[in-house]
Amino acid sequence: MQLNTLKRDDPELYDILMREVSREHGTLELIASENFVSYAVLQMAGGVMTNKYAEGYPGRRYYGGCEHVDEAENLARERAKKLFGAEYVNVQPHSGSQANMAALMTFVEVGDTIMGLDLAHGGHLTHGSPVNFSGRLYHVVSYHVHPQTGRVDFDELITLAREHKPKLIICGGSAYPRFIEFEQFREVADEVNAFLMADIAHPAGLVATGLHPSPFPHCDVVTTTTHKTLRGPRGGMIMMGRDWENPWGKVAPKSGRVKQVSELLDSMVMPGIQGGPLMHIIAAKAVAFGEALKPDFKEYTRQVVENARCLAEEFMSRDYQLVSGGTDTHLVLIDLTNKGITGKAAEKALEKAGITVNKNMVPFDKKSPFVTSGIRIGTPAITTRGMQVKEMKIIVDLINQVLSDPENQNIIDKVRNEVKDLCEEFPLYEQIRD
Ligand SMILES: Cc1ncc(COP(=O)(O)O)c(C=O)c1O
Repeated sequence: MQLNTLKRDDPELYDILMREVSREHGTLELIASENFVSYAVLQMAGGVMTNKYAEGYPGRRYYGGCEHVDEAENLARERAKKLFGAEYVNVQPHSGSQANMAALMTFVEVGDTIMGLDLAHGGHLTHGSPVNFSGRLYHVVSYHVHPQTGRVDFDELITLAREHKPKLIICGGSAYPRFIEFEQFREVADEVNAFLMADIAHPAGLVATGLHPSPFPHCDVVTTTTHKTLRGPRGGMIMMGRDWENPWGKVAPKSGRVKQVSELLDSMVMPGIQGGPLMHIIAAKAVAFGEALKPDFKEYTRQVVENARCLAEEFMSRDYQLVSGGTDTHLVLIDLTNKGITGKAAEKALEKAGITVNKNMVPFDKKSPFVTSGIRIGTPAITTRGMQVKEMKIIVDLINQVLSDPENQNIIDKVRNEVKDLCEEFPLYEQIRD
């Protein structure tokens, strides 16, 4: 990829970019929500569609000159429908948070009761955290995981649901290492007559290839990000397995026709909460969905899961405590309490050694979100680089060396060198490195 113009016209930013390219190449990226997109996705995301205003939807925009961005958005929608078996897709949300906001604002009214997995138990900010719009606009009743199993406590969920009668229940989260139990959630939602919304931001890539159960037909509405296991550009998306007439009796002003739920979702995304769509990103989503439809991507996601299982076993064999005792997906959540180190200290020591993870609350954590007792580790990015089970064993050994003596600079230096050597074996973005 040619970056000569940037180098010439803005050497300061060019250097910053090159330092980031070299950081991504030279460190082990174990943040579960990150990945490395292909050159094709990078090119489309950095392309001229960034110039285009296209408020509205394909075929009915508020601006002229949209014929080509229409083609790109239509392709993104069609490919996503095929990937997930969805009848309806909206690819315009700028991020996962926007997708959740639009879905919530379509299905529930301000002040209504919603339920979501507690943030400290693996949920996401947008699932009802008091510091987020979701916690401010709605009456939130959080559910939790069971202290023994680390999995959703369905006894608690049904008890709370019967008591509080939520209008909507959100399933899914940011640090839940197990399959999302869509069917069990559906039973609870049916009993209390609530809508069921799934947020599959994390396992979306695995859902697309059948390695994680599908949210359809169990969930009324499904949101996701496109940049985690799905390996697309940073962004969000909303889907429904089937479209249906809206149950609130909302009608089209002129004809009096009862609107479909898809129409309400579309108009909640734009003009409800967003303006002009990011057409370069939507086109890059289409590229990524095209990649995800190919057999290689299935093999990639299979390896992501195999690598995560291997990490889990290797950590457990060194007496690390894993929330839920393992993983079904691309991530493991480690409770470091028995190792006498906080999540914050672990993240910092590992970062010095060139290993990027994030501190994470564990269920029933006694420490604050800024300190935490745990770390979350994921395999999507390192698997994209081509790393397999052999490398997972090396990585766990390196992490263990650092965490066993986190203040020891000699160990950190030694591990840093081994990380560099390992990264050299799996080069990243060679075409754009200086
Ligand atoms: C489950 C879940 N939902 C939503 C989001 C929000 O995505 P974004 O950061 O794109 O707003 C995330 C991001 O981490 C997530 O993990």
